[in-house]
Amino acid sequence: KPIPVITIDGPTASGKGTVAHRVADRLSFHYLDSGALYRLTALAALEQGIALDDEHALAELARGLPCRFQAQSVLLAGRDVSEAIRAEQVGNAASRIAVLPALRRALVGLQLSFRQAPGLVADGRDMGTVIFPDADLKVFLTASVEARAQRRYKQLIDKGISASMDDLLKDLKERDARDSNRAVAPLKPAEGAYLLDTSEMTADRAVEQVLGWYAEAG
Ligand code: C5P
Repeated sequence: KPIPVITIDGPTASGKGTVAHRVADRLSFHYLDSGALYRLTALAALEQGIALDDEHALAELARGLPCRFQAQSVLLAGRDVSEAIRAEQVGNAASRIAVLPALRRALVGLQLSFRQAPGLVADGRDMGTVIFPDADLKVFLTASVEARAQRRYKQLIDKGISASMDDLLKDLKERDARDSNRAVAPLKPAEGAYLLDTSEMTADRAVEQVLGWYAEAG
């Protein structure tokens, strides 16, 4: 029997990272934050001065990405970049390079390599549609753009970073449009995916729901 996979896809700030991480913990599964791979590539490109539309150079960069995932941190060429890849500027650059087919192809092998016993929870935009189409359970997590902007706002303020709701809303809408309308691997629910709207739901309840579905599927 193939190694089990649960995919959790959804838009920016839908809470999928938190939910996927906790589901993985509860099942003692591995966890893949595929967005981090796009963010790592974007960060490396920004640092090396590679243009964000240079598809060939970016694909090359992604293929040899010197990254490592440790317990709580992400390393790029041995340097802890866990904070750096979360910057809005890096997220935006990630979403821009994510439209390039050659770059996406270059990251496929790395993503597949996370599928290890006893199982994997993978979060992103195309985990259920493209990378793990044979997943045991596929979830599409959504939340209203207002709820997502509110969460992002609170995260930033809690970190002591000033933010404006208007800017956050505008930014989320732009990112949603880019992720949903691109030609390759657009953000959309996979066939057979369970839809979960977390606008009015705590992360804990969302985790219980996903675990419940997985128990039923198994
Ligand atoms: O999920 P996160 O916000 O960290 O992802 C950053 C960007 O990477 C997204 O806006 C999206 O454009 C891209 N991405 C993607 N496919 C994935 C994961 C992320 O295109 N599986």
